[in-house]
Amino acid sequence: MEKIYCAPGNAGIAAQAECVAIQPTDVEALLDFARKNGVDLTVVGPEAALAAGVVNRFQEEGLRIFGPTKEAARIESSKEFAKQIMVKYGIPTGDYATFTDFDEAWAYVKERPLPAVIKYDGLAAGKGVVVAMSYDEAEAALRDMLLDATFGKGKVIVEEFLAGPEFSFMCVASGEKVYPLELAQDHKRAYDGDKGPNTGGMGAYSPVPFISDEVRRQALETILKPTAKAMVSEGVPFTGVLYGGLILTEQGPKVIEFNARFGDPETEVVLPRLESDILDLFEAAVDGTDCELRWSPDACLGVVLAAEGYPGKYAKACPINGLENARGKVYHMGTASDADGRLVSAGGRVLMVTGRGADLAEANMAALADIARIEAPGLFHRTDIGRQALAK
Ligand code: AMP
Ligand code: GLY
Repeated sequence: MEKIYCAPGNAGIAAQAECVAIQPTDVEALLDFARKNGVDLTVVGPEAALAAGVVNRFQEEGLRIFGPTKEAARIESSKEFAKQIMVKYGIPTGDYATFTDFDEAWAYVKERPLPAVIKYDGLAAGKGVVVAMSYDEAEAALRDMLLDATFGKGKVIVEEFLAGPEFSFMCVASGEKVYPLELAQDHKRAYDGDKGPNTGGMGAYSPVPFISDEVRRQALETILKPTAKAMVSEGVPFTGVLYGGLILTEQGPKVIEFNARFGDPETEVVLPRLESDILDLFEAAVDGTDCELRWSPDACLGVVLAAEGYPGKYAKACPINGLENARGKVYHMGTASDADGRLVSAGGRVLMVTGRGADLAEANMAALADIARIEAPGLFHRTDIGRQALAK
């Protein structure tokens, strides 16, 4: 590869790519840029760009692009669409009911056991899910989503609560063909001990020792492959990253959600373990050719540094110093340079500090040592990433 552009990019990727000031949803500007600069392959990151139809437009114009069309990306953007596919094709997931009316939803929820799982049906940046432990909390969540229009239009899915360890299974799909990536586990809750509100993810690690090869195989054969096949049968073939957010229940792995893109922060601990060239994988998926993946047995573990207050109203423009002292990889999630060229936070989740080692304990120590080398007083992090795996 000769050259990478990133739109819009940030201070982190600027070391590898030329950053271009175009928003990922500005499809026509992206198309224009790709044509003028002879971009050979475009890889889509965020779901908002997929939903804006960037893949559809590039394909119409005959440009190579890695990612699902906006119709296929509905597997993430519409939880109801995802559920309908799963029910129709027998893909294991929790039972559910859909509501647009508050009174009906509340009447249903209050007759069902707790915890109540309530999901907003639309993109909500990982914040549209409430697992309510009390009926008061459930009622408040339904009010927010159906009456106060906090999120926009208002449709919710009430789902069966599934118990068990969660894991993230990302695959690259190309029509019916599925390339499984290594597993990771995310940590969705804001605070230690899985307490506090749901977030986009506060840390992750790979591999996941308590998911056996047999369970992984079962997840691939009963979930990821049949889903890719179902999308083809439905006339919305999926090319891109098909991300299964799975839970290992007593009846085997089941789907909590699908995403249509790389998971964040899982990707930061999975892709460093890929030893073969990821460009080969992207090209194989787009061109429908074959490719083999090689993985390192090393472990990676990463901890997110987030702005105080996240996922609620959070501190802005917090200074960050000492990144150059980190020995492992530090990924920029939300950073910017201020008027004086100093690095500051520019988002809720700010940095992902990753460690690598022969096992998860080593990777954990490396990540913690790097966190101690970074000065960022306005940021907080969880101190128990990987505990479930490290305890085994
Ligand atoms: P989602 O955005 O759908 O991945 O949901 C966010 C988090 O809520 C998940 O990672 C789970 O921890 C939890 N969750 C969602 N759906 C369920 C469910 N049906 N049963 C138990 N926990 C759930
Ligand atoms: N970490 C979960 C996600 O990317 O949605």
